[in-house]
Amino acid sequence: MCGIVGAISDRDVVPVLIEGLKRLEYRGYDSSGIAVLSEGQMRRVRRTGRVAEMAAAAEAEDLHAGLGIGHTRWATHGGVTEANAHPHISRGELALVHNGIIENHEAQRERLTALGYGFESQTDTEVIGHLIHHHMSQGLDLLTALQTTTRELTGAYAVAVVSRAQPDRMVCARMGCPLLIGLGEGENMIASDVSALVQVTRRVVFMDEGQTALLTRDSVSLFNEQDREIEYEVHLSDVSLASLELGPYRHFMQKEIHEQPSALADTLEAVIDAGQFCHSMFGAKAEAILGEIEGVQILACGTSHYAGLTARYWIEAIAGLPCSVEIASEYRYREAYANPRHLIVTISQSGETLDTLEALKYAKALGHPHSLAICNVPESAIPRASELILYTRAGAEIGVASTKAFTTQLAALFQLTCVLAKQRGRLSASAEEEYLDQLRFLPGSVQHALNLEPQIMAWAEHFATKDNALFLGRGLHYPIAMEGALKLKEISYIHAEGYPAGELKHGPLALVDSEMPVVVIAPNDSLLEKLKSNTQEVRARGGELFIFADQDSCFEESEGVHVIRTPRHAGLLSPIVHTIPVQLLAYHTALSRGTDVDKPRNLAKAVTVE
Ligand code: F6R
Repeated sequence: MCGIVGAISDRDVVPVLIEGLKRLEYRGYDSSGIAVLSEGQMRRVRRTGRVAEMAAAAEAEDLHAGLGIGHTRWATHGGVTEANAHPHISRGELALVHNGIIENHEAQRERLTALGYGFESQTDTEVIGHLIHHHMSQGLDLLTALQTTTRELTGAYAVAVVSRAQPDRMVCARMGCPLLIGLGEGENMIASDVSALVQVTRRVVFMDEGQTALLTRDSVSLFNEQDREIEYEVHLSDVSLASLELGPYRHFMQKEIHEQPSALADTLEAVIDAGQFCHSMFGAKAEAILGEIEGVQILACGTSHYAGLTARYWIEAIAGLPCSVEIASEYRYREAYANPRHLIVTISQSGETLDTLEALKYAKALGHPHSLAICNVPESAIPRASELILYTRAGAEIGVASTKAFTTQLAALFQLTCVLAKQRGRLSASAEEEYLDQLRFLPGSVQHALNLEPQIMAWAEHFATKDNALFLGRGLHYPIAMEGALKLKEISYIHAEGYPAGELKHGPLALVDSEMPVVVIAPNDSLLEKLKSNTQEVRARGGELFIFADQDSCFEESEGVHVIRTPRHAGLLSPIVHTIPVQLLAYHTALSRGTDVDKPRNLAKAVTVE
């Protein structure tokens, strides 16, 4: 999704803007631009394509200034053109960058056209700049004009504005899209996320919904929805520069796949150190809330939704609580039945996914009093809107395809399950010890699965030549089959579907022929024999099988049957271990096909629009 960066300083801010935009590239974008106020003139460079091309153009134009804003655009309204790229300039006077969607832009466009404003782009954004310009022409200062404008907008936005009329300041506003302020020495900045600023400062202020801010070189003022100045809290970000660098890896996705043993160890550190499953890791009110709920409603999107689907098996079987899992974008628009005794659990890597955030707000409006967020980004919107929080400690995830966030979400959800079970007297001391042991071994088992990479690379060569693939799993591993299919389709652009293996004969078997590779996730669990019958159904139709089987699953290689042995069965945590091979298969297939692994076409990292 779009990314915003802005800076006001005694020094030249152009390198700060460019570096910030490069660090926001991972969010997904198709054009970029910067605008600076230099010697009283508004100067701008915009390009479609990579930030590097825009940066080269900025250098060629010798752009330098102490005040500027920058943007990476992920097209929503209007095609991928230079004219639609941000910043947008109103009458040469003010420049603006925007993330989000203005829903009433057509009505505002008509109003502004009647006022004599012309439009150079097809974006919804341009109306914001003209509205601010219009209010300034009526005598308002930049901040008041922005505050007045925000009251005339419906939709979601994070905006930053600079004006020739007040060259000593930058103003910004947030509603529904992330925006934070970075505090420097003799300089201040804004950005969509902290990764854009860590090169300059770790001291950040998270803006809340409806707030506006005024930044000068040496001051920051924050205002609430009623435009009253308010105090703010300064946070020290723990995102490290190293976590944002590639190091020896070719892609962030590859790096993040390989970081999973340590990401899991970090996420599990508190429970392993405590030597028990303890409600306190979810927050101060967790004991009362988790103790009184009678069911769980999980809301999430994409890969995070698959984590929820996996957790349902655990929560119902181990904690004995009913658990529903729903795609957030569906839930938020349906007349759902609300049971106030059911805990709303949102799962989100970014914590900014608009559908998940809105589904959470909707659930509260329906009468769900209690919510828990499982999230990877501290202080992001979803945990801030939740009563209880468990942060996964995967570290920054830059690759668009989610990998380490998913496995750490599963680890967090397993902990939630055990806490719920323990509170209900459903976790004996020996079971608790056994599960803790499994968690202790988990990073090692995941490392073992990573060691399968060379074998998986050989399979990937084969997959790279195919147009379709099926992924099969049963029980706990059915969501992992879906996750494997999602990974493959999003980064290699091969059409792939994940199915519960028992469902094959109810339709998808019709697709199976010698051109259809079928990936099977085959742990040595109670459904193994049933799964073996399903694989025979595939083989009998000429389908080629690629089986990830536990060491003790007893699958043999034969013609059309390829087997890679995963570590010994990891019990209830097996879905986490079995995720690694399907991630590696997708990664290496995409590599063979030469796609842009970290920034697959049409996709964005944090989906902050509908
Ligand atoms: C797939 C992927 C997406 C996200 C989804 C939700 O690899 O990354 O499907 O899982 O957009 O994002 P979060 O977890 O940030 O809410």
